Amino acid sequence: KSIKIFAPATVANLSCGFDVLGCCLDNVGDEMVISITADPGVKITKIEGANLPMETHKNVAGVAVEAFLKAYGENIGVAIEIYKKIKAGSGIGSSAASSSGAVWAVNHLLGNPFTTHELVKFAMEGEKLASGNAHADNVAPALLGGFTLVRSYDPLDIIKLHSPEDLVMTVIHPQIEVKTSDSRSVIKHKVTLKKAIHQWGNLGGFVAGLFTEDYDLIGRSLDDVIIEPLRSILIPEFNNVKNAAIAKGALGSGISGSGPSIFALSKGMKVANDVATAIQDIYEKTGIDFDIHISKIN
Ligand code: HSE
Repeated sequence: KSIKIFAPATVANLSCGFDVLGCCLDNVGDEMVISITADPGVKITKIEGANLPMETHKNVAGVAVEAFLKAYGENIGVAIEIYKKIKAGSGIGSSAASSSGAVWAVNHLLGNPFTTHELVKFAMEGEKLASGNAHADNVAPALLGGFTLVRSYDPLDIIKLHSPEDLVMTVIHPQIEVKTSDSRSVIKHKVTLKKAIHQWGNLGGFVAGLFTEDYDLIGRSLDDVIIEPLRSILIPEFNNVKNAAIAKGALGSGISGSGPSIFALSKGMKVANDVATAIQDIYEKTGIDFDIHISKIN
């Protein structure tokens, strides 16, 4: 038994929700072929498009499926082929796509012994291997689609949020690698009450904006006074890109996950395209290679 799947890219944090908010892009992602084999054990049989470890215990998809099988209680055989399109260290959930895609496919091939919500904790094992931290804000939207909120890590409580139809994401990926582990090391572990109040006000506003489809409220809430000031210095032209996106009508803009990708969220495809053109102009002058993605959230 075998299945070919699309494993989507995701944008985590969304400015106001560090480690808790994320959303799923519907046209950017990897392909994977997952098979149940007669030979017990998890094997990575092929990786194309990236130089990633083939050893199961060093591969994010491998460790995620091993965590799944441990809970499933049977040591069946699984073969994993990965066709990477999302570059590692891009900030759009490369490791999350592999780990969540693999566990989703194995669950499907076995007749869905686990709910999609239950798969999140297995996919998080891949994130732990990739970044040293089992964050769920990329794997949850990769598995559940749309926007998701990690209401709590302990116990794990993932909430699927509403996704307003007209939201469109523009993402620029400058081709410099920023490892999540490195961009986590620049963050301070203490925040002032003043900043915490600012941030949780915006997080509540963002979630309310999604459910009421209040695009202006979504835009007002896309603000980050805790993480962005520290991480943005790792990203060339960050402020220029963000300002240009907002000048072109984007609702808001910020760092995608741990960077270096920068996202801009817009209402409607026309604004998202105008934003893409403006930020492309900025990056063309830098000489740094880049990709731009425009995607609905689904
Ligand atoms: N919340 C994580 C971080 C996402 O910002 O480190 C990584 O994509």
